[in-house]
Amino acid sequence: MLLTGPATTVRWALKHGLIRHGVRRAARAGDPVAALQTDPAARADPYPLYRQLRERAPLLAGPLVCTTARHDVATMLLRDDRFGVGFTGVQLPLGAVALTRLAEWRAPIGPVDPPSLLAVDPPLHSRLRRVVARVFTARAVEAQRPRIEKRCAELLDDLAARGGDEPVDLVARYAALLPVTVIAEILGVPLAMRGRFLRWGAAGARTLDFGLSLREYRHAESGVRALNGWLRGHFARLRAEPGDDLFSRLVQLDGDDRLTGDELLATAGLVLAAGFETTVNLLGTGALLLHTHPEQRELLAEEPRHWPTAVEEMLRYDSPVQTTVRISRVATELHGVRLRPGTPVQVLLGGANRDPAVFDDPERFDITRPNARDHLSFSGGVHYCLGAALARLEAEIGLRALFTRFPHLTVTGPPHRRPTRVLRGYDAIPVRLGPAA
Ligand code: HEM
Repeated sequence: MLLTGPATTVRWALKHGLIRHGVRRAARAGDPVAALQTDPAARADPYPLYRQLRERAPLLAGPLVCTTARHDVATMLLRDDRFGVGFTGVQLPLGAVALTRLAEWRAPIGPVDPPSLLAVDPPLHSRLRRVVARVFTARAVEAQRPRIEKRCAELLDDLAARGGDEPVDLVARYAALLPVTVIAEILGVPLAMRGRFLRWGAAGARTLDFGLSLREYRHAESGVRALNGWLRGHFARLRAEPGDDLFSRLVQLDGDDRLTGDELLATAGLVLAAGFETTVNLLGTGALLLHTHPEQRELLAEEPRHWPTAVEEMLRYDSPVQTTVRISRVATELHGVRLRPGTPVQVLLGGANRDPAVFDDPERFDITRPNARDHLSFSGGVHYCLGAALARLEAEIGLRALFTRFPHLTVTGPPHRRPTRVLRGYDAIPVRLGPAA
C-alpha cells in the first residue's frame, strides 16, 4: 500500500476532495452535469445526457462550473481570449489565490499543471509551443509515413505469427503499442521503455479527471512522479551526450528560447504522454465502430479513398478526449449567464460533436459524412492539438493496415472501458483475427 504524506492529502482535498463532495451532493439533488461525473450509465454512454444538456440551454450555470454541449458556444469559448486555461493575471479573491498555491504545494508537475502547455496562456504558452511545434507540422509528420507503415507491418506480423484463431487483446497487442512506438521514435526515447511509459501514462492520465478518490489520486500521482523521475535522468544523459532528436534540442536551447527545469519537464512529459494516451483510444474505438457497422467496413474495403473521412467520423462520433475546461479571465456575460473572473466553464467536446445544428442526423456513424472534419475532438484556438496530424496519420495507416491484413477480424467478447472520463476509450478489446490476407 502507498503511504500518503500530509502534502498529498492536502493537495487531494483541494484539487479533488472538495469537488468530489460537491459533485456527489449535486448529483443526489438531480443535477445532470454532476451526473456526468458520478453515474456509471453516463460513463458507458454520455451522449443522451449531452443531448439533454444541449437542449436545456446554450450555457448551463451550475454550482461548481458552467457547462456547454453546443458546437457554436464551444468553438467561441476555445477561441476567445476572454477565456484561458490558467489563473495567471486573473483577479481572484485572496482566499482562492492561497488555496490554488496550497494545491500546488510539493506537487509533481503533471499534464494539467503549469507550466504544461495545457495549463498556461500566452505569452508563456506561445514560447513553449514554438519550441516543439516544428516537429509536428503536417509536412514533418507526413515524412514519418514510411516509418509508421513499417512499424505497423511489424506489429501485424507479430499478431499473424500467433495464428488467427488465438484470442487476442487488440489494445494490448496493437492499439496501445503503435502510438507509443511512433512517439518514442520521433522523440528519440528508448523503445525498451514502452511498457513502463504505458503503465505510467495510464496511471497519470487520471489526473485529467475531476473528483478522484484519495486512492485514485495517489495512484495517478505515482505515475506522474515515475515518468518525471525517468525524464530527469534522460535529460542528464542527453546533456552529456546529445543526439539528433527533439529532447536533445530542448535541453540545449539557449537565449530567449531557453527552458527552465520545470518548463522542460512539463513540455517533454506532455508531448510524450499525449502522443500515446489519446491515439490508443482512437484506434480501439475506431476498430470497434467498424466491427459494429459492417456495411461501413465493407464500403472501406471496396473504396479505400474513404479512409481519411472515416477517421474524422470516428473522432467525431466518439471523441477520445471528451471534455476540456476554460476559465473566464474577466467578468463577462454569456448567453444570459454572468461569469466572474476565475469561473470554470466545462466544454463538452463530445457533446458539441453531436450537435444537430452542425451535423445532420448526428447519432448516425457515417464514414462519408461531408463535414465530419468539423468536429472539435482536437479542441480549437491556441491549444488546438499539437499532434492532430500525427494522430490522423497513425489512425489511417494503423486501422487500414489492420483491416486489410485481417479482413475477418471479429470482436469475441465485451470490450473493457478505461476508468478515465476525460479520456474515452478501451483498455481491452478481445478479438479473433481470423486468417491473414
Ligand atoms: C486521437 C488522438 C488525439 C486527440 C483526440 C487529442 C486531443 C487533444 C485536445 C482536445 C487537446 C486540447 C485540449 C484543450 O484545448 O484544453 C490536445 C492538446 C495537445 N495534444 Fe493532442 N490529441 C491527440 C493526439 C496527440 C498526439 C499524437 C500528440 C503528440 C504530439 C498530442 C499532443 C498534444 C499536445 C502537446 C497538446 C497541448 C497543446 C497546447 O496546449 O498548445 N496529441 N490534444
